[in-house]
Amino acid sequence: MMILGIETSCDETAAAVVADGKTILSSEVASQIAVHHPYGGVVPELASRKHIEAIVPVVERALHASGIPKGRLDGVAVTQGPGLIGCLLVGFSFAKAYAFALDIPWTGVNHLAGHINSVFLEPDPPTFPFVALLASGGHTSLYHVRSHLEATLMGQTRDDAAGEAYDKVAKMLGLGYPGGSVIDRLAAEGDPDRIVFPRSFLDKKKFDFSFSGIKTAVNRHIQKYPDGLKDRVADIAAGFQAAVVDVLAYKAIHAAMRKGCRHLAIVGGVAANAGLRRKVLHDAAKKGIAVHIPSMDLCGDNAAMIAAVGYHRLKAGLDSDMDLDVFSRDKPLGPL
Ligand code: KG4
Ligand code: ZN
Repeated sequence: MMILGIETSCDETAAAVVADGKTILSSEVASQIAVHHPYGGVVPELASRKHIEAIVPVVERALHASGIPKGRLDGVAVTQGPGLIGCLLVGFSFAKAYAFALDIPWTGVNHLAGHINSVFLEPDPPTFPFVALLASGGHTSLYHVRSHLEATLMGQTRDDAAGEAYDKVAKMLGLGYPGGSVIDRLAAEGDPDRIVFPRSFLDKKKFDFSFSGIKTAVNRHIQKYPDGLKDRVADIAAGFQAAVVDVLAYKAIHAAMRKGCRHLAIVGGVAANAGLRRKVLHDAAKKGIAVHIPSMDLCGDNAAMIAAVGYHRLKAGLDSDMDLDVFSRDKPLGPL
């Protein structure tokens, strides 16, 4: 079954063709980083306009690269939410019209289900049930995943998402937007023990997160010791990263142990973090837990993961009606 996936929930216009929910035939991503960079964050109205410009060429590129003529598509899958409403509407309206014109089924997909299912686009996917840590710019959540389309929330951040904390700390340090990858790179050059920031475990037996405290701690450090900041940036990045990664790794591994799962997936933009990947792999191995992290391209927003979920939804008869609308805020997952 050939599914065209479309993703426009935030600042990436993406389209992909995926066979049977696991084989990527093409995956195109048009990033808007350059557009939003001067503002230090995503400007929703600019993002929507850029999606309108990009959607047709990106879909055409994805189809061309896949070698699949549009007449051979079996369905269209598109992100329904959560995300920026104006952005979502561009992909959503396009997908409805495209499916209508081709007379094939289409389905709205929860973006979070997309991230969780991104591990099935890799050669060695987890077996059900497993635990997934989803860490991105908008979310930091732990799920108990029972099938491609069913997951229960075990805990989530009470304030900032992990990626949001990275982006805000990068801004404080004058490193630009988006901050995750820059801090990750700098952290590799710094000493994580020179400036120690607090680990916010909250209740160690529970699976909620909080990242606003560490963000404030970094800010306080910068205000208190403004001299020679430039020379300490790498150490601050390393100290901040160690504090975030310690909590993410601890809670993810303990969530898997609590549920008796031998498989743990780490997904979302922050899963690209080298420090997190290393720590989770190392600590989980000691507990006999297999870790599944998608390759870099599949950590950030992409349309292949949306097509993967779309395949399972359409196979289950969950195609959508034309009057379905987008949604901006989280909905409980399951069925996805
Ligand atoms: O999943 P994603 O592309 O978009 C959302 O759904 O939010 O995640 C984007 C987030 C941003 O906050 C970005 O700073 C963060 O992922 N990120 C990273 C890294 N690469 C991207 N955070 C930490 N380390 C990285 N290497
Ligand atoms: Zn995302």
